Amino acid sequence: FKDSKEPSILVAQEIADLIRAKEKQNKPCVLGLATGSSPIKVYEELVRMHKEEGLSFANVITFNLDEYYPMEQGNIQSYYYFMHEHLFNHVDILPENVNVPSGTVSSENLYQYCIDYEMKIQAVGGLDFQLLGIGRTGHIGFNEPGSHLNSGTRSITLDHITRVDAAPAFLGIENVPRKAITMGIGTVLKAKRIILLGWGGNKASILKETIEGNINSEVPATYLQNHNNTTFLIDEAAASELT
Ligand code: F6R
Repeated sequence: FKDSKEPSILVAQEIADLIRAKEKQNKPCVLGLATGSSPIKVYEELVRMHKEEGLSFANVITFNLDEYYPMEQGNIQSYYYFMHEHLFNHVDILPENVNVPSGTVSSENLYQYCIDYEMKIQAVGGLDFQLLGIGRTGHIGFNEPGSHLNSGTRSITLDHITRVDAAPAFLGIENVPRKAITMGIGTVLKAKRIILLGWGGNKASILKETIEGNINSEVPATYLQNHNNTTFLIDEAAASELT
């Protein structure tokens, strides 16, 4: 695509179609959601559809991919805050249907918390749709290089490049948390449908490795090559290194 506008609208339409199809079947629509700059226009369009076209989120259950650890919900750098700011505060989703990994769980309870998050996704029937961005390390969610194919929700140490990229939002790398909670590669790959968004020239080289390279844990996004219902929507700048 020329830029991120048209594909973002296409993704929002696909999500809206899925929400409405599930509503007709009287079933919940389970969405896996991402934060960061890549999905912002998708959320803008979903909010517009809610306000102008009556798209209801009453049957939607969401699970966010990740959260910094430790991190307070009220902190403006939290992914909890981001999701409310960009989507949840503007639509009719039920608060009890919103799931963002908690950055405030005590370290003793963290292991069990992650298992419970994973079980909760399974208990509602698994992810119908997963939205992804990609980090310059090749991470999806916060599955940094070295992440295992079968990994589940867990705590992870952030890669240095990821912390460098987050530094402006935290006004300095020293303020960027060293850890995060993330859904695993295994969690993501169980989704029935996956869309990855990539905009801009700074994603060009990692997208080339992800799409054209061999599947390997050093570029966790390459695991998506084996998923049977994944689409990458990228703009011209992000596609500029593809052969
Ligand atoms: C965020 C997430 C990350 C981002 C990735 C790209 O929830 O899971 O994998 O998608 O770091 O971030 P942006 O979109 O800001 O370039």
